Amino acid sequence: MASSSLLSVATMSLLVLGVAAVATAQPAGDAPAELPRSELAAIYRVMADLLGDPTWPQLHPRPCTDTPWPGLQCEIAPDDSRRLRATRLHFGPDVSTPPCKPGARLAAPAILGLPHLRTLSLFGCFVGAGAVELPPALFTNASSLEQLVLKSNPGLTGRIPATLTNLKSLQVLSLSQNGFHGEIPPELGGLAALQQLDLSYNNITGEIPGEIGGMASLSILDLSWNSISGSVPAALGGLRTLQKADLSYNRLAGAVPAEVGSLKELVFLDLSHNGLAGPLPASLAGLAKLQYLLLQDNPIGTAVPAVVGSLRRLQVLGLSGCNLTGPIPRGAFAALGSLMALSLDRNRLDGPIPASLGALPHLGQLNLSQNRLAGEIALPGEFVARLGRRLDVRGNDELCVGRGRYGGLQASYLAAPPCVGPGSVNGTSSALDEATADRGCRGGGLRGLVYHLLVFLLVLEL
Ligand SMILES: *[C@@H]1O[C@H](CO)[C@@H](O)[C@H](O)[C@H]1NC(C)=O
Ligand SMILES: *[C@@H]1O[C@H](CO)[C@@H](O)[C@H](O)[C@H]1NC(C)=O
Ligand SMILES: *[C@@H]1O[C@H](CO)[C@@H](O)[C@H](O)[C@H]1NC(C)=O
Ligand SMILES: *[C@@H]1O[C@H](CO)[C@@H](O)[C@H](O)[C@H]1NC(C)=O
Ligand SMILES: *[C@@H]1O[C@H](CO)[C@@H](O)[C@H](O)[C@H]1NC(C)=O
Repeated sequence: MASSSLLSVATMSLLVLGVAAVATAQPAGDAPAELPRSELAAIYRVMADLLGDPTWPQLHPRPCTDTPWPGLQCEIAPDDSRRLRATRLHFGPDVSTPPCKPGARLAAPAILGLPHLRTLSLFGCFVGAGAVELPPALFTNASSLEQLVLKSNPGLTGRIPATLTNLKSLQVLSLSQNGFHGEIPPELGGLAALQQLDLSYNNITGEIPGEIGGMASLSILDLSWNSISGSVPAALGGLRTLQKADLSYNRLAGAVPAEVGSLKELVFLDLSHNGLAGPLPASLAGLAKLQYLLLQDNPIGTAVPAVVGSLRRLQVLGLSGCNLTGPIPRGAFAALGSLMALSLDRNRLDGPIPASLGALPHLGQLNLSQNRLAGEIALPGEFVARLGRRLDVRGNDELCVGRGRYGGLQASYLAAPPCVGPGSVNGTSSALDEATADRGCRGGGLRGLVYHLLVFLLVLEL
């Protein structure tokens, strides 16, 4: 997150510089383009409200051209080359330190005096104790705002105003990392041009309104890290252009609705850390472009869901802490040729570890720890060597390592004792023998190490 905001800040500065240059490059002989008096006055009011530098007007008599300020961007009016208009206003640590004065406020009349504003962004502006709310009057249907980005303002509290629905040109609405509480206004569903909605890291409660299905252009939806309850609305399935959905770290309950399977463009789906129950709908097989499926820490409570095995583009699959039971079906993940990380830790899985997991060509991280897996670990030696400690099988009391496998002590981090008994005398029992493999081994961790040491000493004596 830090690097992406740095990137956007850098891009923003470049844009500002670029446009300042365009605005000053007037054809010789013409009078330089000017900002209308009303807009200049509005800029001075906004600066007085937010920056609190009484000398700002004197320092910036022509803020679009000769005496620019990095947070302000102007453009030449399309219909009159002698007129400028303020199109972008940005406050943040990249343009001023501190970004805003203590006691900064957002007054509707000042900002409404900038009718051509397409971007308004405030980063780290309201940080003090005095709570600031978004005035509902700030958003009217005359606004040309396309991007409203108010981020990391812990002092920005109150409710999200329903009047935001008036911003018919709005493409980006990001209200992340503020102190908003209350519910998501259903009226926001009327933002048909919206492409990105980010309400993450607030104190939003209530349910996700079904009206959200009306955001026909949405490609990114992030409601993570709030206290949203209720179920995942079926209406979400109407967002046909959605590519990323993050609803993690909320209090969502109930089952995942079948309609989610209609999100054909979805690449990233994070429903982790909620109270979602199983079974997962078979329709999820329709998520043909899905690369990330994060479901960890939900009480799914079923067998390993078969449907995930058909998501051929998956790269990361998180099913930790999902109260999954039964064995890991052999071949369950065989079709996931792009899978790089698989987490099945903290479940109640039993039976052997299918050797076929080691055949996934891109798998570089496999966490099976804290289950009830048993028998000889039959993963190919090449696979175990490649993953090293990124293979985690600890906390499965009945797993054991076949004699002579994985270089003995070198693989002690597996924390599984050597197999003893008739099932694996020659240490070559194959995947087929897994189910019947020796269960004589007991205990992991330190006890496993002791076993290793004993075997090692025995081998030395022979
Ligand atoms: C804006 O809203 C007002 C009052 O609701 C309405 O009278 C007006 O027609 C609307 N203007 C546009 C451009 O939609
Ligand atoms: C959310 O509410 C809790 C208490 O209900 C509070 O401690 C926390 O600071 C709030 N978070 C934000 C971002 O306002
Ligand atoms: C896990 O599932 C079992 C039923 O299979 C249920 O009794 C138990 O409460 C569940 N545990 C959690 C933490 O959800
Ligand atoms: C595997 O999962 C366990 C339990 O969630 C966790 O403690 C451990 O750090 C994970 N191992 C790796 C290598 O990520
Ligand atoms: C040794 O391994 C082979 C192949 O896995 C198996 O067929 C054979 O029964 C094993 N021998 C013993 C004594 O376990």
